Amino acid sequence: MDKTQSVDIGSALAPYLAPLDAALREAVQTSSPAVAELYGMLHYHLGWVDRSLAPIAGRTGKRLRPAFCLLACDAAGGDWRQALLAAVSLELTHNFSLIHDDIEDGDRERHGRATLCTVWGQAQAINAGDALFVLARQGLGRLADCGVPTDVTLRVLQSYDAACLAITEGQFLDMQFEERLDVTEAEYLRMVGGKTAALLAASTQMGALVAEAEAALVERLARFGRLVGLAFQMTDDILGIWGDAGRTGKPAANDIRRRKKSLPVAFALETARGAAAERLRAIFATPQVSEDDVAAVLTILDDLGARDHTERLADDYLQQALAELAPVAGTHAGMILAALTRSLAQREH
Ligand code: IPE
Ligand code: IPE
Ligand code: MG
Ligand code: MG
Repeated sequence: MDKTQSVDIGSALAPYLAPLDAALREAVQTSSPAVAELYGMLHYHLGWVDRSLAPIAGRTGKRLRPAFCLLACDAAGGDWRQALLAAVSLELTHNFSLIHDDIEDGDRERHGRATLCTVWGQAQAINAGDALFVLARQGLGRLADCGVPTDVTLRVLQSYDAACLAITEGQFLDMQFEERLDVTEAEYLRMVGGKTAALLAASTQMGALVAEAEAALVERLARFGRLVGLAFQMTDDILGIWGDAGRTGKPAANDIRRRKKSLPVAFALETARGAAAERLRAIFATPQVSEDDVAAVLTILDDLGARDHTERLADDYLQQALAELAPVAGTHAGMILAALTRSLAQREH
């Protein structure tokens, strides 16, 4: 049996995620009562408090990006504790992008809770997102306090900034594609490469940089992160159409209502013929997608095997990603990284 299949991911990740969670809480604090509510908004988004800012438990996201960063650092032979501030920064940046993404997508729910913009309004949510973005980048400037050499810190910052810019490019394309009916698979990959894969690639790259790994290994781990990111978004696309609302914490078939050119839809628009093609194009050409339209799109996607196609492609990218782990496959952290990657194919939220 493949050794990674016997890894209990929860307990394997716990030693990394416990100090990460402590560092995350430390990074999002203020001593000024005047702006305590702004930080409360961030705590709400991060799942630590409810909307009245009272503490709650068990509502956080998956913390995939920091886990990738710490595991990549460890697998590349570094001291992963030195990468904690980078991991914090990645998780805060990811959450900054989610706060803005919910505004951009007009989404009212995330993880089964009202989005920040729904509770505090768009203007305050934009500002809270900006605060989180700055807190994230500030942390990277303090890597030196953890013994990371200045030239390494600089390279980490370069990797981080490139990923942040790529996210905005991907988000631009994601929104632009809502108005288009002719998005090709290559264009889809460019969009997802920006909005999702860039930060996952930066996560493993930053971890490997802190480990001061050789350039070839840094490259390889970055490629691994990017390939996982592509597969991750494809699974997210499946969940955005066929996911169980009780598990995803978002309304079912939300991406169809939003006219997103996720992979199943882009594939259907490219491959549908005759009446199905005409119906699909008519539905996605109107700004308001009705509930009847949603049902019609679901039937056409089923007929065309759009879900199977997306699952196959996601699996393909996951396999390519796993192949990139070959140089670190014998390490404990490399094994956890592989097990975590395999588990992503089955995720339900
Ligand atoms: C959601 O990411 C946004 C995408 C890139 C698809 P996650 O599914 O990792 O979100 P959290 O961190 O668990 O909230
Ligand atoms: C994910 O956006 C990418 C970013 C947040 C930058 P999506 O819009 O596809 O993800 P969800 O489904 O809202 O989490
Ligand atoms: Mg979006
Ligand atoms: Mg969204």
